[in-house]
Amino acid sequence: GDMADKVEKTFKFVIVGGGIAGVTCVEQLSSQIPSAEVALITAGPHIKAVTNYKQVSKMLEEFDVEERPASVLEEKFPNLTVIHSAVKSLHTQSHSVETADGRIFGYEKLCICSGGRPKLLTQENPYVLGIRDTDSAQEFQKRLSKAKRIVVVGNGGIALELVYEVEGCEVIWAVKDKAIGNTFFDAGAAQFLIPSLEAEKPERAAPCKRPRYTTEEPAAGASHTFTAGLHLSLLLFSVEYQCEVEKIFTSEELLNSQQQTLRPENGSWPVYIQLTNGKTFGCDFIVSATGVVPNAEPFLYGNNFALADDGGLQVDDHMMTSEPDVYAAGDVCTACWEHSPLWQQMRLWTQARQMGWYAGRCMVADILSEPIELDFCFELFSHITKFFNYKVVLLGKFNGQGLGPDHELLVRCTKGQEYVKVVLSGGRMVGAVLIGETDLEETFENLILNQMDLTPYGEELLNPNVDIEDYFD
Ligand SMILES: Cc1cc2nc3c(=O)[nH]c(=O)nc-3n(C[C@H](O)[C@H](O)[C@H](O)COP(=O)(O)OP(=O)(O)OC[C@H]3O[C@@H](n4cnc5c(N)ncnc54)[C@H](O)[C@@H]3O)c2cc1C
Ligand SMILES: *[C@@H]1O[C@H](CO)[C@@H](O)[C@H](O)[C@H]1NC(C)=O
Ligand SMILES: *[C@@H]1O[C@H](CO)[C@@H](O)[C@H](O)[C@H]1NC(C)=O
Repeated sequence: GDMADKVEKTFKFVIVGGGIAGVTCVEQLSSQIPSAEVALITAGPHIKAVTNYKQVSKMLEEFDVEERPASVLEEKFPNLTVIHSAVKSLHTQSHSVETADGRIFGYEKLCICSGGRPKLLTQENPYVLGIRDTDSAQEFQKRLSKAKRIVVVGNGGIALELVYEVEGCEVIWAVKDKAIGNTFFDAGAAQFLIPSLEAEKPERAAPCKRPRYTTEEPAAGASHTFTAGLHLSLLLFSVEYQCEVEKIFTSEELLNSQQQTLRPENGSWPVYIQLTNGKTFGCDFIVSATGVVPNAEPFLYGNNFALADDGGLQVDDHMMTSEPDVYAAGDVCTACWEHSPLWQQMRLWTQARQMGWYAGRCMVADILSEPIELDFCFELFSHITKFFNYKVVLLGKFNGQGLGPDHELLVRCTKGQEYVKVVLSGGRMVGAVLIGETDLEETFENLILNQMDLTPYGEELLNPNVDIEDYFD
């Protein structure tokens, strides 16, 4: 047909998106079949690369993410072509994609790894910032340098990291839940992380002075036992719980409205944010850290993709979408196979890497008509990260996700040092949260994987005077 005539070139594999999922998929395809012509189509000049990869245990992996010029990939894989343009449309019938600069490329197998984009609170607004995952703390600091007060909206990992990194500026943090870090933690862990937000005032907006060192050494879990004289810069920090954004307006809009009762500083801030708890705050800018929306739209028109409730492209246990020869991996997709009882999808770097890698293997297996089974990495959810300068390990159903009321929790907590939580269901360990240097991750990972009956051990499981590794060796 018409479309087929305009195809500039047909590749065996076309991957869309230069994030962790797309790049890992390209690397996998190019190393498994070096003679295959592969195209990576990506909107930006840079790609994301995994560096310092380290396998911490059977399931846990740790790595850094860096932006690199795409040429690095082309040098490594001579049969790879990087096309710098955004995909505008996909024609699954003719097996081709069209880019924003009007070029058309054919594919035998396509993998969509277009990621997600930050959910924004409003339409374009110069005072509302969405941030990208590779924006470093320093870069963000630069944008912050002239700000006296910012409002951070959102309660996921991004917001957690952000509020911890901000220095020398007042932060108002609006979270929709009863506790901070709801995506990752229960209220207990949240409290462990912010000793300055103590039990007696979790529901109230509790402005508290959060002292921080001005030297490079961060005050881990900053506590208010520090006093002046220690060379501290004081930071004003407060949390507004259980509220969302009602409205955002400029100082002019504020002055023209009936909102004069708000605050003494009427009109002196560039932007105002009204929360659903009735409070309004003026600030220099608002940071939107409310999660991402899968970037699926450019691919939908004229095709017949099954979409999940969260807007992601549904994929099966071979990372295949509902359209023939079209795969998807990373933030853009929603895992719709029957999950292992110990795994859940979370839009994180680790999963983007695992999915991209596995999608590449599935595409090759498909081309070679070989069978392939769902990879072992999807057996157990595992994530290792840092929050508030503490090492954090999350395993399995770490927050009792989907378990119903009949699960049991064991908790051990040493203030300022470690927080250990174990989730048990039917006497078997199904999840864990480890904060601090607990050294328990491998043992717990094994206990979760082998689903041993732990009833005989009871609370001894977390007795710090018992070396549990000895139990199970
Ligand atoms: C601020 C922030 C902080 C985060 N911090 C962490 C963290 O500390 N740890 C962690 O594990 N996870 C973190 N995440 C989540 C993590 O960034 C994502 O899960 C991960 O990057 C997803 O990878 P991806 O390859 O699927 O998509 P992305 O990294 O989003 O890459 C998508 C790629 O597709 C390209 N693209 C999009 N549309 C098109 C198109 N139409 N045509 C061509 N190319 C297109 C984009 O340019 C981009 O190159 C964070 C996310 C955010 C927003
Ligand atoms: C690139 O592909 C060609 C054939 O398509 C093959 O001969 C060549 O060896 C490939 N290059 C590498 C580095 O594998
Ligand atoms: C705010 O408005 C009130 C009355 O409208 C006025 O008296 C007051 O001076 C204003 N404050 C500032 C800081 O502009």
